[in-house]
Parts: sequence; structure tokens; C-alpha cells
Amino acid sequence: LKVDASPQLARQIPDTLFGIFFEEINHAGAGGIWAELVSNRGFEAGGPHTPSNIDPWSIIGDDSSIFVATDRTSCFSRNTVALRMEVLCDNCPAGGVGIYNPGFWGMNIEDGKTYNLVMYVKSPETVELTVSLTSSDGSQNLASTTILVSGASNWTKLEQKLVATGTNRTSRLQITTNKKGVVWFDQVSLMPADTYKGHGFRTELISMMLDLKPRFLRFPGGCFVEGEWLRNAFRWRESIGPWEERPGHFGDVWHYWTDDGLGYYEFLQLSEDLGAAPIWVFNNGISHNDEVDTAAIAPFVKDVLDSLEFARGSADSTWGSVRAAMGHPEPFPVKYVAIGNEDCGKKFYRGNYLKFYNAIREAYPDIQMISNCDASSRPLDHPADLYDFHVYTDSKTLFSMKNTFDRSSRNGPKAFVSEYAVWRSDAGRGSLLASLAEAAFLTGLEKNSDIVQMASYAPLFVNNNDQTWNPDAIVFNSWQQYGTPSYWMQTLFRESSGAMFHPTTITSSYSGSLAASAITWQDSENSYLRIINFGSDPVSLTISATGLQASVNAVGSTATVLTSSNVMDENSFSNPNKVVPVKSQLSNAAEQMQVTLAPHSFSSFDLALA
Ligand code: AHR
Repeated sequence: LKVDASPQLARQIPDTLFGIFFEEINHAGAGGIWAELVSNRGFEAGGPHTPSNIDPWSIIGDDSSIFVATDRTSCFSRNTVALRMEVLCDNCPAGGVGIYNPGFWGMNIEDGKTYNLVMYVKSPETVELTVSLTSSDGSQNLASTTILVSGASNWTKLEQKLVATGTNRTSRLQITTNKKGVVWFDQVSLMPADTYKGHGFRTELISMMLDLKPRFLRFPGGCFVEGEWLRNAFRWRESIGPWEERPGHFGDVWHYWTDDGLGYYEFLQLSEDLGAAPIWVFNNGISHNDEVDTAAIAPFVKDVLDSLEFARGSADSTWGSVRAAMGHPEPFPVKYVAIGNEDCGKKFYRGNYLKFYNAIREAYPDIQMISNCDASSRPLDHPADLYDFHVYTDSKTLFSMKNTFDRSSRNGPKAFVSEYAVWRSDAGRGSLLASLAEAAFLTGLEKNSDIVQMASYAPLFVNNNDQTWNPDAIVFNSWQQYGTPSYWMQTLFRESSGAMFHPTTITSSYSGSLAASAITWQDSENSYLRIINFGSDPVSLTISATGLQASVNAVGSTATVLTSSNVMDENSFSNPNKVVPVKSQLSNAAEQMQVTLAPHSFSSFDLALA
């Protein structure tokens, strides 16, 4: 394997090459990175109608002691549904009757930690409520407090801190009383006091994102942006402002309700917290099943311009002031937008696209716009800065797709491989095999990074209780998380963005099952050489590097290898480190060195230059 690191053949990889695609799928956001513990906090999951769907809220008591129903008496105008609880018993059972919420398949309550409860209550008569965190059957009490609600015809906002005295991973929040009468509830929220930077994100999941060193964050979907029907598509305007006033919506593609606590503002905040460029994918008037005629698209274009003013406008602009009121006076630097998702073939795509494109170009000339139409093999018939490229396929096909962009035009828009993954037959629930094919594909993207500007794996997250899409990069439940081999594979590319790329050539009888790429960092002392052995035989290679700006030093050089005894091996909660990169010293590191690649392995040689 020859690496030619001479400066005349070196090319800088775009700063933005590797990033993250975050979609609200598999409960990645609600019940995932967004730390809210109450599910359906506004009792609104059935939409703005009554009776609404209060799932997963449930009652403590029976038909003779309690009756609950939804009505439209909330104090919030955009989400008018509230829960009316009527206590029927004169002598209520010990512990009282009431309601409970198990969160998203159980709340993770941890000993010594503080949880902030906020809820809105109305009761015509004075009533004492007991608010508790308990085990899933209510038998173990982890935190409890009583709150006296004065009788009034108005709603009252109650806030309470609960400090847990025990740990239970599948807890619930319960609100009970012994007093006969009627109480209304709305917007019941329980957040851990400790979230990432105090911004509401689950710290350990954010750490895993940070470990990928993402250069961009594409959000909030995917199909989530489109909806099966336009009425269920993501609407940024409904997802900003005080959380209590957000209506929430039913994501009909992935089939679950979101309270939209993780809204447009929070996605922008997340980009900032990750140090990643935000890429806002907006609905372009097209869902899976209905479309807005281009003749009627103007209000949708105005809506998107407003979203950009919200992000970028000064604090005294109409929408910038709303952002400032939410706590971020400085603009968010949105430099990329995607006009729709996977909508290229749709009847009104091109017409709608041009309306959005022209309006955004005029208002924000620096914003790069991403078309849904693939230009990897033929030119676009419309202007674009980038085009979207999605691929989900089997491992052999993806391995061979490392050459996909070799012959793409160098003149048109750049490629954004915003969704790639091995799936179905040989993906398992995240197999080593899948990660090797993906790694090989990424070497091809590095090689073609003069035309490929960005790439992201998809989907990133899955809550283990709702694996709608398989496989995914990060698996979690209420309290645990692990990376699949596809996650770990990405960590071995995290130094690539902005590095210098150097051509490699492989001469071997095994070259059909090998893939490689080499980078150096000009201002640091490292050169990274990645080699994927997709085959089932060990492969011995002589590596020879020429043109390096300094000599290779064995001291400090390492080999990091991702492999396992079986190519279909996966990680799991019980064995999260079965397939993870293992680092060792590379004592024979030199410009010329002999290496043996394990069968089915991904090796990253980090050569110290001195
Ligand atoms: O990543 C899962 C889905 O795959 C995305 O929502 C969509 O863009 C693609 O079809």
C-alpha cells in the first residue's frame, strides 16, 4: 500500500465533511436526547380535540373512586386540552387516588439527584396534592412532597423541586389526593435539574455526539419533516416560545406524539453546543401523500423566511426578538438549508423549490441551498449549491459504492451524502460487517471530497423501546447507551474534516476486498492511515509512505483496530464493548512498515511525525 503524501498531490478535505444527521425517529428526541421525563405533558396527544389521547397517563384508583376526562379549559390558547380529574370517594384508599405518568417506558430517577416539577393546576376548592416519584407499581417511594392548591377559578403554575432518595430506572410520576372534588391539570413537566449546559439535553447522549466531533447538524429529519400528510409535518413556528404554549404534534411517519419541547430553537442551540454548523431541513410544501401547488406556495416561502429571521435576525427584528426573548440574543449562524427531503420526483418539487430558492437567495445570499435531486450522475435542471444523496443498501453494494463519486461532474453543485447506512439483510441490529462497508464507503467520500462536501450516517439514535428503524448508530434506554460498530467506525473518521488528503494505491491479490485512505494534519504531528479489510482472510501489507513532511516516529504511533471474532457481532446493553476500537502501540511504525490486517477489520494507523 503506497501513500503519496507529496504536497503537489495533497488536497484539503472540506472543514464540513463529517457531521451528524439528527432525526426525530425512534424516539431519538422525545424520550431521547430531550431530557423531559413526562410523556404527553399537555394531555394533547389526541390533537386539539376532545376526548384527547392521554396515553401514557393512567389513573390510581378505580371507577368508584376517580373519573378523568379531557376538556378544552386550558389557560393556553394554542393547546387548549386539559385533564379534569374528579375524585369520587369520601373515604379514599390510603395513599389517595390520582394520576400517574410512566414517562417514556419508565423514568430514570437517580439517588441524590434533583428533578424540577412544573405543572398548571386549577381547583375550585382548596386541595392538598401529593406529588411523588415512585417505582413503576407505586410501591417504592423515591421522592414525595405535598402541595396545597388554594381554591380558585384561575389556573395556578406550581413549581417544586424533588430530590430522589433512591434509584429506579423505570419510575413514574404520580399526583394523588384524598379529597373529594374536581381538579384540572395541564402542562405537567418533570426535568432533571442536571442537563447538558442547562439546555435540556441528556448529557451522556450529547457526549456521544460530541465524541464524533461533528462539523454540522442536519435536523430535524428526514421523513419527520415531510409527514405522511402536510397537516402532520414539522412546523417550526409551533415549536418555539414558552414550552407550555407549544401545541405539540403527531409525527405520522414514525407514529408518535411529540410535545415539541425539542423544537426549532433547541435544535439551533444544540448545533451551537456541539460546535456544529446548523443545517435546517424545512418542509417545502410536500409530504408523502399531499402537496401544495406551486401557485399557492407563497405563504410557505414566507414562513421559511421567517424561520431564517428567527435564527439570524438581529434581536430587534420581528422574529429575532422572539429568539432573544427565549434567551439567545446573538443570532444562530444558519448557513445551509435543505429544501425538502427526498421529494425530487414529486409533482410540485421543482416549482416549489425554485420559489424557495429565489426568495432565500435574495434575502440571504450567503445561505447554501441543498436540492433533493441527485446530481451524482447527471446534471440538475435547477440551481443548487449542494445536492442530497441518500443510500441504504446491503454491505457488499455499499462497499463497492466507494467509487460512486469518482466520475461525478466536478462542475455542478457539491454532494451532501446526508444519509448513508447498511441496512436490512446483513445489518443485524448494527453489525461489524455493516460498519466495515460504511467505512470503505467513507474512504471513497474522502477521496472525492473535492466534490463531496458533507456526509452523515442515518439514523443516529434509537430508543431501544421503539426501534422503528434499524440499524442505528447509538442505542439507548432511560439510563444506558452504547454505540453500534457503525458509531465507532465514525469515531475513526473524526479527524478528517479539514485535514489534508493523500492518494493511496493498493497492489495486492486481496485488493478487491480492501479500501484505504490517508490524511495528515499540517499543523499537528499526525498522519492517519485507515485500511478496511472487508474479506475473511488476514492480509499482510507493506505500507510505504513517501513525501511526508517529517519522518515517522515509532514512539507515539498507534494502531486502532475495530474488529471481532464474528463479522455479524454486535454490541448490546449487556455487552456494550464487544465491538469497539482497540488501541495499541505501533512499535514498528516507519515510512516503510509491515502490517497484518485481521480478517473483517478496520485499522486506523496513527503515525506520529517528528
Ligand atoms: O433515516 C431514516 C429515513 O430514511 C429518513 O427519514 C428518510 O430521509 C430516509 O428515507
